[in-house]
Amino acid sequence: MVMTGPWLLYGANGYTGELVARLAAAQGHRPILAGRRAGEVCALAEELRLERRLFALDDPRRIDDALGGMSLVLHCAGPFSRTSRPMADACLRTRTHYLDITGEVGVFEALAARDGEGRAARVMLLPGCGFDVVPSDCLAVHLKGRLPGARRLALAYAGFSRVSRGTATTAIEGLGRGGLVRRGGVLTPVPSAWKSRRIDFGDGPRRAITVPLGDLSSAWHSTGIPDIEIYFGAPPGLRALAVAARYLGPLLGSAAVRRFLVARVRAGAPGPSEQERRRGRAFVWGEVEDDAGRRAASRLALPEGYTFTERAALAVVEHVLSGQAPAGFQTPARAFGPDFVLGIEGVTRTDL
Ligand SMILES: NC(=O)c1ccc[n+]([C@@H]2O[C@H](COP(=O)([O-])OP(=O)(O)OC[C@H]3O[C@@H](n4cnc5c(N)ncnc54)[C@H](OP(=O)(O)O)[C@@H]3O)[C@@H](O)[C@H]2O)c1
Repeated sequence: MVMTGPWLLYGANGYTGELVARLAAAQGHRPILAGRRAGEVCALAEELRLERRLFALDDPRRIDDALGGMSLVLHCAGPFSRTSRPMADACLRTRTHYLDITGEVGVFEALAARDGEGRAARVMLLPGCGFDVVPSDCLAVHLKGRLPGARRLALAYAGFSRVSRGTATTAIEGLGRGGLVRRGGVLTPVPSAWKSRRIDFGDGPRRAITVPLGDLSSAWHSTGIPDIEIYFGAPPGLRALAVAARYLGPLLGSAAVRRFLVARVRAGAPGPSEQERRRGRAFVWGEVEDDAGRRAASRLALPEGYTFTERAALAVVEHVLSGQAPAGFQTPARAFGPDFVLGIEGVTRTDL
């Protein structure tokens, strides 16, 4: 189904923004490409024969002007801890639906707190339209359906090929803050890599450690399950580093160390190559448990993370353009149901 509604893709010159722009154009969409870097945004817009709008996020009037006539914004410029607020403000003022691809807990929480504003303006606020959190959110709601009385939820990721510069930069922002879990419905600080467990993602058990990903917010809002832990199937070197971060917290959080790490990241490749994306696979596993000890577990097999993100973000755009845009704060599964993920090419779900 080809949609023609006017929509804006902000951060189109970033690694992920460009992937989405190319896929959108290939599928017959006509997004308006936007960003603050004239040369890169214009070159891409020209190549894809799309319109473009150039603006930074530090002048509210310019953002409002740029959103004029748009039905939605797909915001791909991160770290979202810095970019989400000005765009969401503008979306609420101009009555434009707000979608982003964040995986940052703080951003989900900030947008959830604006649910009332979104409803009043009849604007949808939907963060997390990428690899984190579309599959995990859908899996969480699916599991809740299998065990409605669930009180505990564990979700786990595995199979990253390589992360993009933007993902690495966003991760560096969070260094030194330690870990997080949800306990009794409340986000609760814990040490970095606080727990570890062996999880079978489909190719035999792997050791996974707790990480503070956006699902701690989205899964809570989608399921109401009060105790949530998110795991990441990490190789031994990364696990050791995560444990070491407990003791290096103040050092890792210092501005000088962050600047050094960001410079190293900026000197590297923008993200996985096309070949790496084509070859890569990713997995999300989930388990729920109720107070009687009953359990249910399910697993998703997915395309590589950035390939999944471009497909999922575009699928969300299509749903919103077709009128499925409930007002206020939403999660992917709350807005479109737990089977939304199964409509994305390359995804399969197994109940274990
Ligand atoms: N949840 C998920 O599954 C998922 C998947 C993919 C990406 N992401 C997130 O998406 C974000 C982008 O990732 P990426 O790989 O595309 O990164 P990238 O290649 O570094 O691109 C970042 C983009 O954001 C823009 N940007 C950054 N800070 C900005 C600011 N203050 N104002 C305006 N524009 C700003 C950049 O513009 P300039 O070139 O002008 O700096 C660029 O267009 C990251 O936060 C990443 O973690 C999440």
